[in-house]
Amino acid sequence: MSEDLELVTIDEAAQLVGKTPHNIRDYIQRGRIRKYNELGQPIERATNGHLRVSLKEIRIFLSLVEQGLEKHHHAGLHPELGFHDVPEHKRTKHVHRLHPYLGKFIPQLVEWFLARYFQPDDVILDPFMGSGTTLIQGNEMKMHTIGIDISPFNCLIARVKAAKYDITKASYEILDIEKKVANFSAELNRSEINKWSLFPLDTIEDIKNRLLANCKSEYLKTWFAPRALIEMLYYRDLIPNYHYQDLLRVLLSRAVRSSRLVPHYDLATPKVPLPVGEKYWCRKHNRFCYPIDNCITKIHAYSRDTARRIAEFDKIRSDRSINIIQADSRTVDLKAELASTVIAGRPIDGIFTSPPYVGQIDYHDQHIYAYELFGFPRQDEQEIGPKKKGKSKQAQFEYIEGIAAVFRNVLPLLKSDAKIFVVANDRFNLYPEIAKRSGLRIIDEFHRAVTKRTEQGDDPYQETIFFMMKA
Ligand SMILES: C[S@@+](CC[C@H](N)C(=O)[O-])C[C@H]1O[C@@H](n2cnc3c(N)ncnc32)[C@H](O)[C@@H]1O
Repeated sequence: MSEDLELVTIDEAAQLVGKTPHNIRDYIQRGRIRKYNELGQPIERATNGHLRVSLKEIRIFLSLVEQGLEKHHHAGLHPELGFHDVPEHKRTKHVHRLHPYLGKFIPQLVEWFLARYFQPDDVILDPFMGSGTTLIQGNEMKMHTIGIDISPFNCLIARVKAAKYDITKASYEILDIEKKVANFSAELNRSEINKWSLFPLDTIEDIKNRLLANCKSEYLKTWFAPRALIEMLYYRDLIPNYHYQDLLRVLLSRAVRSSRLVPHYDLATPKVPLPVGEKYWCRKHNRFCYPIDNCITKIHAYSRDTARRIAEFDKIRSDRSINIIQADSRTVDLKAELASTVIAGRPIDGIFTSPPYVGQIDYHDQHIYAYELFGFPRQDEQEIGPKKKGKSKQAQFEYIEGIAAVFRNVLPLLKSDAKIFVVANDRFNLYPEIAKRSGLRIIDEFHRAVTKRTEQGDDPYQETIFFMMKA
């Protein structure tokens, strides 16, 4: 089992978290934390001297107590939903890591519920699709899937993950464009004395000037070193020469994200760009680091990785349909959108989804570099519960109404006994009211500790999976 649990004895735990051994035993008795053996397997009874507890679970529990959220912990943590022992490469298996995305859940969580509550051939809907985790996992399990998201870039990521590729051709294109940009990048660095070149020097200057003249984005000019900017613009302009253009856009976007002038420890939520060429103290690496000054390094890093990931998914994907709709889930005419698909007219068997949490993330803004680079239209105003609207009572009220409006809109297409699973960090206890306004009843709640995410974020927290059905 995993060392991520940080197993310790009761006495050690008490010392490490500043409590008494009696406190720790009390948490066990009240079902707040679990008992483990030395191998990290959950146990009912422990023989003398062999009982272990998880420091990680204790810390989560104590942080919930501190935030006044202990009451949400009443059912205790579900023993199987922590996924403590799932290694990183499985949480980000095949296409799930084609592009970073703050706020995605892990495929293992989707798999756990789909395997228990649904069958192959069922139709599963995710009205807050994000980067498409439910869709990819559902397809792997031979289910038809439908995803809706308001953000055009999230839909692009999901479409690229879900697409069926001619793997040889896609790999060729990925490596071909990489080579062309690498040649160009080498030229950018070539000294004037070295006259041997594929591009005469004045041509390189012409290309640079043309690329910069066409770049109107202040954001791009501010958040990237000059060389990184030129390289990414050059790559972008080559994309129309290829067949799998969206795949290349997502690959470039991933490289661009990692090429911003941001500290390594703050890739997800950077505040201000670092000065070009100036070292900074890196909390992630515990040493001085320099901000990246180019994009080609990341293009190299992600090109083969992308080709490998799409090939891996291609081997295990099923032939069930994956349907992606860019729309506001409160108002989309889902029936019309599905009319020309293979699942037209089929009642939907269930939902597995994770709505935005109130006031937590701006889903367009997290990918601002991609919107600026490709000029995708933004639909920020239609995001439910964005960070910029905060967590005030008014924001919570709007959130309740927004999420309920989504369920009311899609419920008519669901079977009468459809099963609905909603993953939420419901720290304001809004879901009972959301269920009421949606015409749903809460059947059960599963609580899980979130210590493993695919993206960096703040401290560990607890989330609830609400199991609901039509009222
Ligand atoms: C928590 S994320 C979903 C993450 C997803 N489970 C994954 O693994 O990638 C919530 C998503 O809801 C989307 N969203 C917000 N308001 C929406 C609306 N009105 N209609 C459709 N989608 C919306 C956001 O763009 C965001 O991608």
